Amino acid sequence: MLSISFISLFRRFSALAVAVVGIGFLANVSVTEVYAQESTLADQTLTQECIEQPYSGTMHQSSEADLALEIEKDCLVQNGREWYDRRCSFCHGGAGKGGKGPCLTCGKFAYSANSNMAILTTISVGITNKSLGGAMGAFGTTISGMDILSIVAYMRSEETRRIAAGEIKDPYIKEEAMVFPD
Ligand code: HEC
Repeated sequence: MLSISFISLFRRFSALAVAVVGIGFLANVSVTEVYAQESTLADQTLTQECIEQPYSGTMHQSSEADLALEIEKDCLVQNGREWYDRRCSFCHGGAGKGGKGPCLTCGKFAYSANSNMAILTTISVGITNKSLGGAMGAFGTTISGMDILSIVAYMRSEETRRIAAGEIKDPYIKEEAMVFPD
C-alpha cells in the first residue's frame, strides 16, 4: 500500500517535473533564442575605409554635446541596417517600427533620454532591470562599439526619413520663442 502510493506520488512528481522543464524550455526558447545566436564579440564589419570616407552631409545630434552621427553616409547606414535586420528586427520589427519591443524610429525613447549617446548606451548594456521590462539583453558583448554606433545611425536616418515623409510627427518641433513687442 505504502509502496503503491509512493510510486503514484513519484509518478505525479516526475510528470510535474517534465511539465515544468517543458514549459520552462518553451518559455526560454523565445527569450534565449536570439541571445544564443551569438555569444562572443563579433568582428567589426564597419570598415576603416567607411569611417575615414570624407563626409559633408547632415549630422544628427540631439544637442551640441551629443554624439554626432553621419546619417547620410551610405556605407555607415547600410552597415547598421544589416546588423539591425540580423539582431534587432526580430523584436523591434522591420525598419524599427516596433513589434515585441518599442518603435525605434518614431523619435521617442521611453527608456533613456532621446540622445544618440543614451541610445547607444541602452543598446550596449541592455535593459536588464526587471521592473523596466528586462526583456532586452546587452549587445555590447556581441556587437562591436562601432557597429552599434552604425545601428544608431541607421535608426536616426530612418527616423529622419519618416519625419520628412510625414509618416510620424516631428517630435523636435519646438514652440517659437515668445517675442514681446517693444
Ligand atoms: C528579445 C527581444 C529584443 C531584441 C532582440 C532587441 N530588443 Fe531592444 N528592446 C526590447 C524590449 C522588450 C524593449 C523594452 C524594454 C524591455 O521591456 O526590456 C527594448 C528596448 C530597446 C530600446 C529602448 C527604447 C526606448 O523607447 O527607449 C532600444 C534603443 C533598443 N531596444 C534597441 C535595440 C537594438 C538596436 C537591438 C538590436 C541590436 C535590440 N534592441 C534588440 C526587446 C528586444
